[in-house]
Amino acid sequence: MLQQVMTAPGQIMFVEKEMPQPGPGEVLLKIMKIGVCGSDIHVYHGKHPFTSYPVTQGHEVSARIEKVGEGVTDLRPGQKVTVEPQVVCGTCYPCRHGKYNLCEKLKVMGFQTTGMASEYFAVDAGKVTPVPESMTYNETAMLEPLAVTVHAAKRAGTVRDRDMVVLGAGPIGILLMQTLKAMGARRVMISDISDYRLALAERVGADKAVNTARTDFAEALEDFFGPDKADVIYDCAGNDVTMGDAIRCARKGSTIILVAVFAGMANCDLAVLNDHELDLNTSMMYRHEDYLEAIALVASGKVQLQPLMTRHFAFRDYLAAYQYIDENREQVMKVLIDVDPSEA
Ligand SMILES: NC(=O)c1ccc[n+]([C@@H]2O[C@H](COP(=O)([O-])OP(=O)(O)OC[C@H]3O[C@@H](n4cnc5c(N)ncnc54)[C@H](O)[C@@H]3O)[C@@H](O)[C@H]2O)c1
Ligand SMILES: [Zn+2]
Ligand SMILES: [Zn+2]
Repeated sequence: MLQQVMTAPGQIMFVEKEMPQPGPGEVLLKIMKIGVCGSDIHVYHGKHPFTSYPVTQGHEVSARIEKVGEGVTDLRPGQKVTVEPQVVCGTCYPCRHGKYNLCEKLKVMGFQTTGMASEYFAVDAGKVTPVPESMTYNETAMLEPLAVTVHAAKRAGTVRDRDMVVLGAGPIGILLMQTLKAMGARRVMISDISDYRLALAERVGADKAVNTARTDFAEALEDFFGPDKADVIYDCAGNDVTMGDAIRCARKGSTIILVAVFAGMANCDLAVLNDHELDLNTSMMYRHEDYLEAIALVASGKVQLQPLMTRHFAFRDYLAAYQYIDENREQVMKVLIDVDPSEA
């Protein structure tokens, strides 16, 4: 079978490997589709702080079960599945308290341990969840970023009937906006500095889309929500401007949730954060229950993934996919690698 290996930044090789066999408690997966995200691009550019080379990428995948190993009774060959890419220790404090997304020794496939960019992949059965047959492999590959936004939505405590703002209409921001709407948020406003991305956000259900390159965020917030502004502001862009806007404009006593990963040290006004008694919350990855909710949101049609799929590339064209993303930053939402092109 073929396996992708990034040997150094910007360099991808394909190697012939022995077909893996599922050990006890494992399943062998036939990988179908792989989603590419910003973190993969950081690895491609040698700018991911926690990845060394060589590395096989691939953490947003869909697959079909090929074989099950000894002792696996709840999964069977032929099932369409999603895979959670976290490898956790199971013994640290967060792991012992059910918060394994925060494992002290967390490794993510495709970054600190072998990713799934190969034709077949043997994995612990506990990381594999079947999805309804009606879901496409393309949609199934996007459950990973959707699980990110389900987790982020739940970090607000309550979503139902609340007014929310999402700063940044990238894939994460648009998925979060849809997730919040699906979970019963009253109104969701989204901002970006790209009209293209804002138009897409409106197409998939944003109540209001604001270009903060042209409109002052404080004004837009009050124009849309009125003087009470919003209950929660999410930062899905992660720069000093968006975090600055959030702190400056949030209603006193309301909540800010940081989903984006800052590239460097933040420069923001903690005096205002304190003076306005704002709750600054964060959100990191997801757990199994978030995947289950993500599956339900897609299966029920409450979240649309298809409009976010920009383009497909063949497995061998990984490098071309990265080049395409670099050249079309604004227009690219989700690029998918067709490891197996035979089914959508
Ligand atoms: N917390 C997690 O578990 C988790 C998981 C996946 C991704 N992330 C992070 O989430 C963030 C978003 O991911 P993405 O794939 O959507 O990235 P992206 O870069 O595609 O989206 C960010 C968007 O923010 C917009 N933006 C920039 N400045 C802005 C401003 N001043 N006002 C409004 N919008 C502005 C950009 O135009 C862009 O559309 C990234 O930082 C990513 O690393 C976090
Ligand atoms: Zn990703
Ligand atoms: Zn742990």
